[in-house]
Amino acid sequence: MPEGLFAPLFQEQLKTHLQLPVTNHQSLITSHRPTMSFPRRYTGLIEKYRDRLPIHDDTRVISLGEGNTPLVRLNNIARDVGHDVDIYVKYEGLNPTASFKDRGMTMAVTKAVEDGSQAIICASTGNTSASAAAYAGRAGITAYVLIPEGKIAMGKLAQAMMHGAVVIQIEGNFDVGMKLVKEVAEHAPVTIVNSINPYRLQGQKTAAFEIVEALGRAPDYHCLPVGNAGNITAHWIGYCEYASASGDHVTGACAFCKGHCAYAGGAGVGNRPRMVGFQAAGAAPFVRGEMIDHPETVATAIRIGHPQSWDYAWMAVEESGGWFDKCTDEEILAAQKLLAEREGIFCEPASAASLAGALRDVRSGKISASSSIVCTLTGHGLKDPDTAIKQSTAPVLKVDAELEAVRRAILDNMA
Ligand SMILES: Cc1ncc(COP(=O)(O)O)c(C=O)c1O
Repeated sequence: MPEGLFAPLFQEQLKTHLQLPVTNHQSLITSHRPTMSFPRRYTGLIEKYRDRLPIHDDTRVISLGEGNTPLVRLNNIARDVGHDVDIYVKYEGLNPTASFKDRGMTMAVTKAVEDGSQAIICASTGNTSASAAAYAGRAGITAYVLIPEGKIAMGKLAQAMMHGAVVIQIEGNFDVGMKLVKEVAEHAPVTIVNSINPYRLQGQKTAAFEIVEALGRAPDYHCLPVGNAGNITAHWIGYCEYASASGDHVTGACAFCKGHCAYAGGAGVGNRPRMVGFQAAGAAPFVRGEMIDHPETVATAIRIGHPQSWDYAWMAVEESGGWFDKCTDEEILAAQKLLAEREGIFCEPASAASLAGALRDVRSGKISASSSIVCTLTGHGLKDPDTAIKQSTAPVLKVDAELEAVRRAILDNMA
């Protein structure tokens, strides 16, 4: 560093740093280090949970190493809120295509291939199309994806296109696309991979398994953003399976159970969380208690007015003693920014609805003190850079490419 540069700022730290005793690193290396053993390569959630999933020994597994996502404890935000609660976020944006959809897609595409399907189809607000496209590419089959024109984040569209899906934009929203997909699938040899495909929820239930394993118990509350309502249902199925002693009467929310569950029991975990679903205020059929035809929200991933898992999600919430609520777009974007700035975690807008709602309920006391709370962050923030840039108020500084100009810019903008 040239003499004098940043002198007023860093002189002291620099001095301290330079005065540190020099460590002889060689002396720290012992000659009796124990031989290290390495864990086996993680190969995805089907391999990990194969005894709890509808998979045969000879099933060809289509996987991209999905699942095993971090459960991060919020330090700064939890302290700022000032209530005695433990808040964790399950960072599902770190799945292979950057959303939770991969958990369900590995199962849906694996089973589609097992059944001899050559093509899959979905309607999507973006993330399902990205995931379906990637897993179809991996499997060597075709993906057809119907998306609402102009209402899908750029990153998601880029993914579907790059993975080689046949992208069909419709002049209609997700709900219209879903109706079309169901009609098409009646006449064409394609497998639907939306969450009405029960294998999707089977894959997605594994997120609950991971949370229980990480905490040693289920949390007291689990908050999720809700659109089609498959994910909140899937989590409840997972928690119920781990909490049940046997396969009897596990939950009415599962399409697989029908009285006796083949995958329940053995986990030795007694408790289950209250399931709390947050919708965007302009797309909140569960809160309104009826379907809505023209959903609108900045959180395009949950811009859904006719949720497909309506009955199952109601069952999940009622069985668990939880609730549905809504967040405004402003609350959602504020929570997204807060997470990024205060915790270093970048999620997409829809994902932040879980935290926005949870924080409001903690402050109001609806979520009781001393609780543990998990919020699912369903997708990565890089999916939707346009929304992120639009709401970033700090200007990008433009200066001459000279030392003095850069120095000035730094000194003028010190916190
Ligand atoms: C990022 C994100 N969050 C939440 C959801 C809602 O999930 P579900 O439709 O299972 O309720 C979606 C669905 O597309 C999504 O993409």
